[in-house]
Amino acid sequence: MLSDFAEVVKPGTREDVLLNSIDWDRLPRHVAIIMDGNGRWAAQRGQPRIAGHRAGVEAVRASVDTGARLGLQALTLYAFSTENWKRPRYEVDALMRMLRRYLRLELDEIDRQNIRFQTIGRTAALADNVRKEIARATERTSHNKGMTLTVALNYGGRAEIVDACRAAVRRLMDEGGKPDEITEERLASELYTRNLPELDLLVRTSGELRISNFLLWQNAYSEIYVTETLWPDFRRQHLLEAVVDYQRRDRRFGGLKLVSVR
Ligand code: IPE
Ligand code: IPE
Ligand code: MG
Repeated sequence: MLSDFAEVVKPGTREDVLLNSIDWDRLPRHVAIIMDGNGRWAAQRGQPRIAGHRAGVEAVRASVDTGARLGLQALTLYAFSTENWKRPRYEVDALMRMLRRYLRLELDEIDRQNIRFQTIGRTAALADNVRKEIARATERTSHNKGMTLTVALNYGGRAEIVDACRAAVRRLMDEGGKPDEITEERLASELYTRNLPELDLLVRTSGELRISNFLLWQNAYSEIYVTETLWPDFRRQHLLEAVVDYQRRDRRFGGLKLVSVR
């Protein structure tokens, strides 16, 4: 809520103006971010791609802090896709190293902010030392009641739907049910995101107009916000801009806008 920003936002700044235009009764419940543009940010500076990833950590910190202060129920960050294994080995290794470091350094702060940490994706395929750090953070914050921070790691939207189908069919066979008993609700209850509220807002940085295999099912009726800002430059102000823009949208969910009721 607004008072949670008092210690970090100065009166009269752009952030302050944005905060004051937020309708606190209509916050998105669940915001997801495709953190993109690290490589381009580095290239603009004549630096190796990994320097962009390193700089992106500050944007993660700012987004998590802002999401928690806003009082979002859920913030989901796309950190590594099932397709990102196609990148050079040293880049993949650097990303995994940074994730471990982020979790080690930020865990106290995440816990202090009452954030519940979890991951989604096929994390069983990740290296032991990464899984250990994930397990530690998940365990330590499991009783927190504030925002749920979900990091998508070795995540693919198609893989998620396949995994949900397998789980639903397995359950159905155990119960001796029929295929028609598989409904949208039952499939949704097998998705990685089953414990999260509906996705309201998807943010993508660096201007690309695509979903890149992220939360395919969950994006059915989300509002999409794309900014040209490259991920390492993304800060509190940019997330607030996305939320303010979201609140201007007319969400119809296939129905009609209620202009007048006759
Ligand atoms: C996003 O930045 C980080 C990950 C996908 C892990 P990129 O590395 O995709 O940066 P660009 O898109 O090449 O600029
Ligand atoms: C999406 O970004 C994946 C993550 C942010 C983790 P990519 O950079 O991998 O997506 P494409 O290749 O532009 O579609
Ligand atoms: Mg990219």
